[in-house]
Amino acid sequence: AKVQHHNFVIQETPVKRLCKTRNAITVNGMFPGPTLEVNDGDTLEVKVHNRARYNITIHWHGVRQMRTGWADGPEFVTQCPIRPGKSYTYRFTIQGQEGTLWWHAHSSWLRATVYGTLIIHPAPGSSFPFPKPDRQTALVLGEWWNANPVNVINQATRTGAAPNVSDAYTINGQPGDLYNCSTKGTVVVPVNAGETSLLRVINAALNQPLFFTVANHKLTVVGADASYLKPFTTKVLMLGPGQTTDVLLTANQPPKRYYIASRAYQSAQNAPFDNTTTTAILQYTKTTTTSPPIMPPLPAFNHTKTVTSFSRKFKSLRNVVVPKTIDENLFFTIGLGLDKCPKHFPKNRCQGLNGTRFTASMNNVSFVLPSNFSLLQAHSNGIPNVFTTDFPAKPPVKFDYTGKNISRGLFQPVKGTKLYKLKYGSRVQIVLQDTNIVTSENHPIHLHGYDFYIVAEGFGNFNPKKDNSKFNLVDPPLRNTVAVPVNGWAVIRFVADNPGVWLMHCHLDVHIKWGLSMAFLVENGVGELETLEAAPHDLPVC
Ligand code: C2O
Repeated sequence: AKVQHHNFVIQETPVKRLCKTRNAITVNGMFPGPTLEVNDGDTLEVKVHNRARYNITIHWHGVRQMRTGWADGPEFVTQCPIRPGKSYTYRFTIQGQEGTLWWHAHSSWLRATVYGTLIIHPAPGSSFPFPKPDRQTALVLGEWWNANPVNVINQATRTGAAPNVSDAYTINGQPGDLYNCSTKGTVVVPVNAGETSLLRVINAALNQPLFFTVANHKLTVVGADASYLKPFTTKVLMLGPGQTTDVLLTANQPPKRYYIASRAYQSAQNAPFDNTTTTAILQYTKTTTTSPPIMPPLPAFNHTKTVTSFSRKFKSLRNVVVPKTIDENLFFTIGLGLDKCPKHFPKNRCQGLNGTRFTASMNNVSFVLPSNFSLLQAHSNGIPNVFTTDFPAKPPVKFDYTGKNISRGLFQPVKGTKLYKLKYGSRVQIVLQDTNIVTSENHPIHLHGYDFYIVAEGFGNFNPKKDNSKFNLVDPPLRNTVAVPVNGWAVIRFVADNPGVWLMHCHLDVHIKWGLSMAFLVENGVGELETLEAAPHDLPVC
């Protein structure tokens, strides 16, 4: 195993998209940021130099960070932000993960432009569980705002309204040629006839689950979130923000040009192929055609059936050790709410629904980040009054996914910095239940520091009497982000074998801002190998 050193310089860089140039926050002047490629077992040392005017942190999305919680990155959770002019070195080892992950800023909405791919190859001497592909290409889906994304979310917070939607979806930072002024930058993916490519697809969009397809080509899914899957074929992928999917594509069609296309699942913008569709071009190398690329069909924005039949096909390929018995049986509601408008607003009216402002919660707690310490620092140094450990194991008030029969309390959650304490090694099950209080949507729930098994998914209210029998404890997929079905639920299981403080949140960034997060405090076990490492000397303090 090797140690790789990298420098990430956070800086303002002029970027031209959609006919306009604006300054964007980038890493090393690149948008998207640099791709890191490692082998399983390697150690990464990334020194982040903040030369921009915002506080920032970097999160290594999906990296297990065994005992190295100090390198996880969420602002005020595992570290205080890196101030302008300062630096911090993230040091961590990849252990037993292969496939595609990514990294992104974990502070305000900076991840809109501060993100990149993290490719984990098999360790030397081991290989893919499928024939070695001839080519490998990473395709990172994203969103572009003409305005500064930090201003977009700050404006929304000031008024209580929902933030402005993005101006384009993107593939590798490019909207693609269906958008204005975007033909020149459109991403071209070259293929040779007869060859097989491994496409590593990542949803780095801030707020949007996305469909993904390639005209006239079948996709063979082989992995997701850096875990291998039993291969299956599909025409369309759906990725919630945070999720990755690895697919094989064989160039077995007439040598022409084909669109690679992505557009929203579940969005207000119900539109056919138009400029809410981002495209890249799959181009056979020997083609001489000048005709436009072939356009694939994509499901309608509300086609949940496609999503369900896709996610049902996910089965782990190997190394499945699902906890069969449970020490912690948790039930978390996830959903939006509407908060009273503060008194200082004109006529006490905010710009959310009916003069309220939007909020969000898990189990009726709207999560508040501390501002003077990180949670991990407070835990590890025994600093009092930063958090409490009374996050409820069950919803404290009645809920119903239909949105009826809901206690008033759920509309207006309590605010708090509440953690849930887990003993080292405890076997945890969490039912994640969409509440449909204000609206219902597919929430991508991401857990830091862990992969979890998704043992079941369904619609309606979770009912232990009938739904427990549907659990897959044989070969469920292992992921770090679960797309909880709209108007439905998902059940996840994991073993709490990584001590530290670990955030769990909706990966729609607007929901994080509104409080759709909580954190687990996993206690140390016995002996050095079950204990959180000491804090690095250059850890930023607040
Ligand atoms: Cu990909 Cu808490 O983040």
